[in-house]
Amino acid sequence: MCGIVGVLGHHEAAPILVEALKRLEYRGYDSAGIATVDAGRLDRRRAVGKLVNLSDHLVHDPLSGKSGIGHTRWATHGAPSVTNAHPHRAGRVAVVHNGIIENFRELRAQLAEAGVSFSTQTDTETVALLCESFLNDGMAPVDAVFATLERLKGAYALAFLFEGQDDLIVAARKGSPLAIGHGEGEMYIGSDAIALAPLTDRITYLEEGDRAIVTRAGAEIRDEQGNPVTRETRRIRIDSTRMDKGGHKHFMAKEIAEQPAVIAQALAHYLGEGGDTITLPGAGVDFSAVNRLTMVACGTAYYACLTAKYWFEQVARLPVEVDIASEFRYREPPISEGTLALFVSQSGETADTLAALRYCKGKADSIVSVVNVAESSIARESDLALPILAGVEVGVASTKAFTCQLSVLLMLALRAAHDRGLLEDDALADQISALRSLPALLNAALDQEDTIRRAAQNLSEARDVLFLGRGQMYPMALEGALKLKEISYIHAEAYASGELKHGPIALIDQNMPVVVLAPRDALFDKTVSNMQEVLARKGKVVLISDQAGLDEASDGLWQSVAMPACPDLLAPIIYAVPAQLLAYHAAVAKGTDADQPRNLAKSVTVE
Ligand code: AGP
Repeated sequence: MCGIVGVLGHHEAAPILVEALKRLEYRGYDSAGIATVDAGRLDRRRAVGKLVNLSDHLVHDPLSGKSGIGHTRWATHGAPSVTNAHPHRAGRVAVVHNGIIENFRELRAQLAEAGVSFSTQTDTETVALLCESFLNDGMAPVDAVFATLERLKGAYALAFLFEGQDDLIVAARKGSPLAIGHGEGEMYIGSDAIALAPLTDRITYLEEGDRAIVTRAGAEIRDEQGNPVTRETRRIRIDSTRMDKGGHKHFMAKEIAEQPAVIAQALAHYLGEGGDTITLPGAGVDFSAVNRLTMVACGTAYYACLTAKYWFEQVARLPVEVDIASEFRYREPPISEGTLALFVSQSGETADTLAALRYCKGKADSIVSVVNVAESSIARESDLALPILAGVEVGVASTKAFTCQLSVLLMLALRAAHDRGLLEDDALADQISALRSLPALLNAALDQEDTIRRAAQNLSEARDVLFLGRGQMYPMALEGALKLKEISYIHAEAYASGELKHGPIALIDQNMPVVVLAPRDALFDKTVSNMQEVLARKGKVVLISDQAGLDEASDGLWQSVAMPACPDLLAPIIYAVPAQLLAYHAAVAKGTDADQPRNLAKSVTVE
């Protein structure tokens, strides 16, 4: 996902912009650039690759000026290159953009007919050229931006900077988040509060369709119709220490290690310090009126939903449908009366998940979200947003957010069961007592890191890996395969272990590692049978189980990892740890970038 920053300050803008962009690196990018205005003169510097390349460029070819905009680009239209890097410039205007302009080809054709020539393949250049054309028609900068916005279709967060305007940035938001920061006689723009944390904690989030005319005196905000509006300015505390690696080699390692602590926070938020009830914020959810649950998400958040399906169906006896957001939104499924629509998203800005939420508006009885960013679009457009309190998650691969999502979803399922009269007070108290053991169990799982690292180093030499799980462990197998794929680039697939005989067993030979996630639960014997089928064909099995399971099924294993014995419902949360650590240490062994894997963005705010 691209990152946008802007500053109207009293100090040189270039270093401030680069520092702010560094705080957006976690979003994933492949080029970067800044533009400034100095005594009316507009200029820009851009570089492909990491921000250090832009910093080097600025050392040799400095950019002065106290007003500026900056951008980290995650390529959508056009390859990663200096030419395609933002800011894009057309004459007197420079622009940075997060999102996709869906009608940019039509606009390019119209501009080409008017004799305009292009130097890039990007949709963003079209925005700059369109704005310049309105300036050439004699419009003032603000009017030229507004006229440009009227012609755009698609999703965007935009910031415009103008030749001759040392005290003006015009910003706009539609589909991609954008925030305004309030300093002391200075003003800032940022894709999120993290980028602006060192500069200010006074943040105004633009709403859908908002435009902001920003000067050092403040921000005048107008809605899509051009009417002046007031948006709340909040104090957003970003714990800046959370943006360092805490002595770990990678943010991902730190965030894996943080899981006991952040889950303890999430539990305390919903369980209180010692009570036996699960408290939901606001008006909560009236589960007595709910007869169906539709859950929608992407990626790892989708696997959290798949896991929660087992819990809602088993303990709350609620029928659950789980969908990938990009499929759900275009399938446009009928939403029956009594449906609770639940959206899970770490960033709260994933375009497909947000679009699915908007599809359910007015159809589902209520819209509930489980998010890590309380001010995010998905949170703000929900009837009820349930925070997961994981803290800032910098690693592109989701880890602590995933287990916090699972913890909140499990509490929600237990609350639903209790409200529907399927879980008596004492049984709920027992489950809550089990939940309170989660941090200790996670610590016990983390204690197995050395064993897991050794298994991961063996896995890192494989070309393909298969993950197997049954029941609520099947989504964990899917998550384990995704983690390994996305940060070590090793191809990995996951199957419900009962599916092995229906095709995937053809893959098994002495070169195929198979990771089996199987606590000693009611399905263990079935999974062991599947595992034996793999061993009989010389497959290399890594069994992740508890000691009871390993005592029964250790013959012929290639590797094994002992997890702490735990209550059935907690097992998916505990077994997420070995899945994460296997991927992490495989990536370290292969030398890939565990925090910012190639081609990936932390939050996909484009379709
Ligand atoms: C997780 O490891 C991935 N980086 C990715 O699948 C992520 O879970 C997905 O993009 C959804 O993001 P969200 O939770 O912010 O909506």
